Amino acid sequence: MGRRGPSLCGARSAMCEINQTEPAPIFPSFSATPHHQAVRGLLLQSCEFGSKCCRFSPPLPFSFGRFGVRCNYAETRLEEDSNSGTIDVVADVKSERVVVLGGSGFVGSSICKAAVSKGIEVISVSRSGRPSYPGSWVDQVTWMPGDVFYLNWDEVLVGATAVVSTIGGFGSEEQMLRVNGEANVVAVNAAKDFGVPKFILISVHDYNLPSFLLSSGYFTGKRKAESEVLSKYPNSGVVLRPGFIYGKRKVDGFEIPLDLIGQPLERILRATENFTKPLSSLPASDLLLAPPVSVDDVALAVINAITDDDFFGIFTIEQIKEAAEKVRV
Ligand SMILES: NC(=O)c1ccc[n+]([C@@H]2O[C@H](COP(=O)([O-])OP(=O)(O)OC[C@H]3O[C@@H](n4cnc5c(N)ncnc54)[C@H](OP(=O)(O)O)[C@@H]3O)[C@@H](O)[C@H]2O)c1
Repeated sequence: MGRRGPSLCGARSAMCEINQTEPAPIFPSFSATPHHQAVRGLLLQSCEFGSKCCRFSPPLPFSFGRFGVRCNYAETRLEEDSNSGTIDVVADVKSERVVVLGGSGFVGSSICKAAVSKGIEVISVSRSGRPSYPGSWVDQVTWMPGDVFYLNWDEVLVGATAVVSTIGGFGSEEQMLRVNGEANVVAVNAAKDFGVPKFILISVHDYNLPSFLLSSGYFTGKRKAESEVLSKYPNSGVVLRPGFIYGKRKVDGFEIPLDLIGQPLERILRATENFTKPLSSLPASDLLLAPPVSVDDVALAVINAITDDDFFGIFTIEQIKEAAEKVRV
């Protein structure tokens, strides 16, 4: 659970690397990660600095996950016969383009808001499209109305660096299997076909429920979606398993302040966890004991998943909070 893979390219911290001694092959890391495979061959942007000359290739029509720029800098010397050395500069610049499925929903809108605040390009897809409430972040998201079962994926996924799915919900057994399971399976396969390097799924905690309850359409659908993510994205797929998510849920122009219940409950459960821990082995005990998580924490954990290539696998409630904390810091 919550595996952290080997560091592939120092995605979060080392965005720019200067190599003054050994010239590296051009874009050596492109074939190393799925992220890079998505853009391989398209990004031979060259940058040449002479003493007073700088040349860039023209801007690309859409942004890519990460691109490398190798610069050969010829040292300017006054003497004509100088042994002018060269300095190789390899810059690894990250630019994210994230597709949020269900970006107009309760959790999805928090993810969109957090992502635009981090400078990430965001496209939301949902049947209702753009939400009706105002907000400066709302204007920064590209809202695409569409149903994942009938979507023209090439209008959405080309150039995407990650897909985040918040699609899920309740209803009849059949509806729950379809919305929690099939809808996400369709999305995972579309993302894989289009070479999107990362898929992040908002799933759910199992509440320590006995297996006969976990066989409901809701949980069966969720687990089916999880398996699809983990099998198609074994080294970059992310499954977040929150329990009750609190925050301000907007419904038909009204705001339901779920945080009035969730926030104090989270504090009480944290304060009493030493006493309640022995109860956690009892079936279904987590219906009472699983700590709620704020919608902001879920959104920040998603940001962490988008920006950190070492973050993949299944993440529990506590691990979601830890991941959120890293981004908040
Ligand atoms: N809220 C919680 O306490 C909680 C706890 C644990 C896990 N989760 C999980 O977290 C996820 C998000 O929950 P939420 O509370 O944010 O739900 P939500 O507000 O109902 O959001 C779901 C989003 O999915 C979109 N959607 C549904 N079917 C779609 C389709 N066929 N094509 C395109 N978009 C579709 C909906 O928009 P349209 O209807 O406009 O299409 C909506 O934007 C769900 O998977 C849920 O199971 C939630």
